[in-house]
Amino acid sequence: MDRREQLYEGKAKKVFATDDPELLIVSYKDDATAFNGKKRGTIAGKGIINNRMSNHLMQRLEKAGVPTHFVRELSGRETLVKRVRIVPLEVIVRNISAGSFCKRYGFPEGVRFGEPTVEYSYKNDALDDPLICVPHILAMQLATREEIATIERYALTADRELSAFWAARGVTLVDFKLEFGRLPDGSIVLADEISPDTCRLWDTATGKKLDKDRFRQDLGGVEDAYAEIMGRLMSGS
Ligand code: TMP
Repeated sequence: MDRREQLYEGKAKKVFATDDPELLIVSYKDDATAFNGKKRGTIAGKGIINNRMSNHLMQRLEKAGVPTHFVRELSGRETLVKRVRIVPLEVIVRNISAGSFCKRYGFPEGVRFGEPTVEYSYKNDALDDPLICVPHILAMQLATREEIATIERYALTADRELSAFWAARGVTLVDFKLEFGRLPDGSIVLADEISPDTCRLWDTATGKKLDKDRFRQDLGGVEDAYAEIMGRLMSGS
């Protein structure tokens, strides 16, 4: 499958057309941004790690009953995916307090919740992706009630699967962000990526952060953390 014209360049990926109108090629970059692009940098090798990790995890989720956009890995950085119309929501699942949850509520980091939480942000860079409640999603017709129910079910299934997957590799899944899209028939599939850019992953034994928070918070050892988490991914079956 050959790349045709570039359709879009985002913060971490480029998207290309193919000869098939229903398929796209995504190409993962080493560029990293945080705080809605206000902080910029490069994480050497990130594109390859995120591409491989996302594809591995999406194939696992498919087996667990979560349909995804994944079709086929084409190369280190490139993957063939189904073309979707993205639902303009960031779907965030949290198992342990961290990040904006702690900031918003003045709540300590590292507290495990009795059950996972699911929340939504409105994908809108000009507005800094504000938190959005379900009634407002419905009011703006960003998604239907039925689609939201499907998205929440898929997000919680993903949380169960990914938490168990990482636990078996000595890694704690703290929280993560998913994005969903609609296929031409209207059905909802998981899209975008699942990677250390979009998940908080802590070493279970030491609590060490093995994800993009090392870049966001200037903790150092960013490349090493991405390599370490990729090694853990490969260490299990
Ligand atoms: P938060 O605590 O900053 O709201 O982030 C929750 C999760 O979502 C965390 O795993 C990082 C991920 N995330 C993204 O993937 N993209 C984003 O733009 C933001 C803000 C967070």
